[in-house]
Amino acid sequence: MSYIEDQFGLSEAVVVITGAGGILASSLAEAFVKAGAKVSLWVRRAEVVEETRALYAPMAADPSRLQVLAADAGDKAAVAAAYAETSAALGAPNVLINAVGGNKGKGPFVEADPAVFEDILRLNLMAGLLIPTQVFAAAWLKASIKGSIINLASMGSYVPLSGVWAYNAAKAGVLNLTQACAKEFGAAGIRVNAIAPGFFLGKQNKALLVANEATGELTARGADVVRRTAFARFGKAEELRGAALFLASPRVSGFITGICIPVDGGFLVDCI
Ligand SMILES: NC(=O)c1ccc[n+]([C@@H]2O[C@H](COP(=O)([O-])OP(=O)(O)OC[C@H]3O[C@@H](n4cnc5c(N)ncnc54)[C@H](O)[C@@H]3O)[C@@H](O)[C@H]2O)c1
Repeated sequence: MSYIEDQFGLSEAVVVITGAGGILASSLAEAFVKAGAKVSLWVRRAEVVEETRALYAPMAADPSRLQVLAADAGDKAAVAAAYAETSAALGAPNVLINAVGGNKGKGPFVEADPAVFEDILRLNLMAGLLIPTQVFAAAWLKASIKGSIINLASMGSYVPLSGVWAYNAAKAGVLNLTQACAKEFGAAGIRVNAIAPGFFLGKQNKALLVANEATGELTARGADVVRRTAFARFGKAEELRGAALFLASPRVSGFITGICIPVDGGFLVDCI
């Protein structure tokens, strides 16, 4: 066993990734499968279970350490059933990556549709954090499992991004609940941390940032993001992997809880 494998000990991890069909979650899924962890990928729609399995199984040293299932992360009964299904197939999970979330459009504050606003809160706070965290933490408290939860925050957790009011509010809530849950579960040895990606091209934000996919021409907003990012570019999904592997492993981050790691190319240090 190499020094790094020994340090991280990820072959002992049983990792659940929600929203596993997403752009960022897919990259994390690849990292954990290749790191030798047992991995359960939770996707939204049953129709994509088989194609997801076919994508990751060849990356796994032992395909029996991989599971793919469909579950609505906003439905507590469905999440509890998925937790039981994962435990039966791979053993009890000890890492939860809450990667469900996203935004829907942008516009002036006074025109924000309350129904859409509420949908975005549900997506990011309920499906993206509250429901899976409640199910996993309750099971871990009962079974004395010192698990690790990794939430997906955002630049909007720190500074409001123009036009995406509900997304900002939800992601500020994700950061707040990451800290609150770290305190709440700390005595039980359950760690709760977050990663705040800067700007990565995902399914939902691409239209806001890229005007022409063929030429790579950016929208005014996309150009503004790049101008304000110290590295002057968007992130690449694989650049999130190091932070996730680090936070998942109790051997290397076992005394760390309640933090959020920005992986943002320097967006948060923008200044004149
Ligand atoms: N892409 C970025 O630049 C960026 C930046 C900061 C934060 N984030 C956050 O990272 C996370 C992943 O982002 P992404 O860009 O990969 O998003 P994405 O839209 O590519 O993936 C989100 C996934 O969640 C799934 N999903 C939605 N509702 C669900 C539900 N109720 N149950 C189960 N699955 C559900 C979707 O099917 C989708 O596969 C999100 O929380 C997002 O807010 C992304």
